[in-house]
Amino acid sequence: MTTMTASAAGLEGVVAAETALSQVDGQAGRLIVSGHDIEELAAGFDFADTAALLWRGLAPADSEAAGIRAELGRARRAAAERLPLLLPAADGLSPIEGLRLGLAMLADDDAIGDHLAVSGAIPVFTAALWRRQGGQEVVAPDPELGQAADFLAMLAGRAPDEAPARALETYLVTVADHGLNASTFTARVVASTRAGTVSSVVAALCALKGPLHGGAPGPVLDALDEIGDESGIDAWLDAKLAAGERLMGFGHRVYRTRDPRADVLKGVVANLRGGGNRIAFAEAVERAVLAKLAARYPDRQLDTNVEFYTALVLEAVGLPRELFTLAFAMGRVLGWTAHIFEQEQSGRIIRPSSHYVGPVPDGAKLAAVAG
Ligand code: ACO
Repeated sequence: MTTMTASAAGLEGVVAAETALSQVDGQAGRLIVSGHDIEELAAGFDFADTAALLWRGLAPADSEAAGIRAELGRARRAAAERLPLLLPAADGLSPIEGLRLGLAMLADDDAIGDHLAVSGAIPVFTAALWRRQGGQEVVAPDPELGQAADFLAMLAGRAPDEAPARALETYLVTVADHGLNASTFTARVVASTRAGTVSSVVAALCALKGPLHGGAPGPVLDALDEIGDESGIDAWLDAKLAAGERLMGFGHRVYRTRDPRADVLKGVVANLRGGGNRIAFAEAVERAVLAKLAARYPDRQLDTNVEFYTALVLEAVGLPRELFTLAFAMGRVLGWTAHIFEQEQSGRIIRPSSHYVGPVPDGAKLAAVAG
């Protein structure tokens, strides 16, 4: 019998799938998505281009970006038809819980294609849940718009400016896929049981919700607000570390250097705001955090992860922090669905082993019962 060591408790170093979708090189700080460096993807691909790239050769009806763009528009319209059922049922839930409910209401064999149905539903449900919570009328999707522009239009009730729409689209592309992170692994485990795409995506969303994964960027902004200004940084950090708390937006299971997506998103926010005060303050916080973490964990190399500058991008495009994790899901759904297709092709159920450490019953008693 093999004994599971404490270091394997998080499955680090375990290779649990073969994938052609993305590679995270944690030593070099390099992310490749379907043959493209993340910097190239972020600069030249929109959401539909990225969907075409990730779904190519995997989705049941293979199509080019233009076709996918139109199909996503149709999927958003189809999702809007479900709002009369979803919205009253979601009253009293947080936005992420409302989205979880909304996705769970979709069928596992949607006529439009499950991967399209879930991808179209996330922006529609998110915007409608938020407007309902604020007592505002729901805004219908416009199938002619791109994914990010339509989401911002449904959220604010007016057409967005080009710069924030483009910034959000770049964000969605930047986070679309990232190896076997916790939510993608979850999606693949559920897909391996042949439960279906929607069920696999619902499970993935539940994993994403946690503060150690996709729930981090909201708390990043909370932290910046709590710190207040540069004079408060050191005292705040010392108090948090002394209390044993984790600093959101820093550290990563795989990266032993800076997460390349952090720089992509820092560039996005700098373009949006012309290098305004918030980014200068964030950089000062980042410098201080990295120095403290290096002093505290000299052997570990903890660096900035994607969530730190995600928080600034999403704030700058006008999203309330309660919707940050939902925006993450809006991008990551492309990776989830592609991994689900890939896992279904492999055909093998994911079923690891565990090491039993509980009491072993006395064999004599069993013999007495059997006898
Ligand atoms: N703040 C303070 N201490 C930290 C941080 C942090 N952000 N990250 C790691 N550490 C500490 C750990 O507590 C651990 O200390 P210990 O040995 O005394 O317990 C030590 O550094 C080593 O931790 P790792 O093995 O590097 O961390 P692990 O791989 O288990 O966890 C994780 C990675 C969950 C991302 C962690 O760094 C963390 O909690 N970060 C903050 C949350 C966050 O930003 N999450 C978003 C990640 S990116 C994404 O999912 C999209």
